[in-house]
Amino acid sequence: MIYARVAGTGSFLPGKPVTNDDLVARGIDTSDEWIAERTGIRARHLAEPDVTASQLAYEASVRAIEAAGCQPADIDLIIVATSTPDYIFPSTAALLQARLGIANGGAAFDLQAVCAGFAYALATAEKFIRSGSSKRALVVGAEVFSRILDWSDRGTCVLFGDGAGAVVLEASDRPGILATALHADGSHNPILCVPGQVNRGSVTGDPFLRMDGQAVFKFAVKVLSEVAREVAEQAGMPLDAVDWLIPHQANIRIMQATGKRLGLPMERVIATVAQHGNTSAASIPLALDQAVRDGRIQRGQRLLLEGVGGGFTWGAALLEF
Ligand code: ACO
Repeated sequence: MIYARVAGTGSFLPGKPVTNDDLVARGIDTSDEWIAERTGIRARHLAEPDVTASQLAYEASVRAIEAAGCQPADIDLIIVATSTPDYIFPSTAALLQARLGIANGGAAFDLQAVCAGFAYALATAEKFIRSGSSKRALVVGAEVFSRILDWSDRGTCVLFGDGAGAVVLEASDRPGILATALHADGSHNPILCVPGQVNRGSVTGDPFLRMDGQAVFKFAVKVLSEVAREVAEQAGMPLDAVDWLIPHQANIRIMQATGKRLGLPMERVIATVAQHGNTSAASIPLALDQAVRDGRIQRGQRLLLEGVGGGFTWGAALLEF
């Protein structure tokens, strides 16, 4: 039996934290109290205008590759989950591959499932490894969401940040990923979207993130609870046996409500949203890496990773670390 096992993790946040008070100082009509109370967010990182997703991805990947004890040349598959790619094409994954100095490498492609992107990418890479098509995959979530925020819309601009997280997944005969589940329901696309496009040299439609916050909240709690139960059942493991829940870091209240529905106390939920806001596809690997590096997550523990995002898309992976 071939398993896909996490060999190493890495993450990167650009620049210094921008606090809620910093946003107020920049002229946004909000307050630390409003943002913290409703979302748990205290700060986020915002990339300089010339910093791209592939650069953030590179920094996170170098750390993950080092933690895995391998070399870039050992990577035979790169999947970058992003909704804020450097270009329309080539893919951010191809640009990352070049930055890593991998010549004539294996497949490299982007995957777009917004905030569920990392769950989608991890599940996809796992299938490459299980089938024998890949021995060592680099799975990255990298975003510069600050580029698609309407900074005059206080209902959305305070929620998001930039960053990247990465894992190296490798083939192993020891258990790694035990179960995955992916879902989508495109009929919900209007409640969270960036409904613009590049058309004949100009942007048509609205190039900024739009959201119906309350609808998103309800949908997120529902599907995050369902998909967590689904992977636990698939793995034949009671939810109680999960050591750490690592949900998409959008909003502490979504995490609390999901944890409650699943019977998992907040002491077993990794929450880093306070420090980096919602970094979309980057949020799960950022939280994972932080908890690995600060010693909370230990080898052999069972982790349940899950994300939900625009589309709507959602997914989860249950793994032994
Ligand atoms: N600062 C101060 N006041 C604000 C702000 C702000 N940043 N934003 C909105 N308000 C005001 C509104 O104008 C409104 O004022 P009014 O009553 O005078 O009209 C009031 O606050 C309430 O606005 P609501 O939008 O109803 O606020 P709500 O309580 O729903 O909270 C929030 C909004 C935090 C977005 C909430 O709906 C939520 O957490 N939704 C989940 C969405 C989410 O996390 N999305 C992340 C992306 S999706 C994903 O990753 C899965």
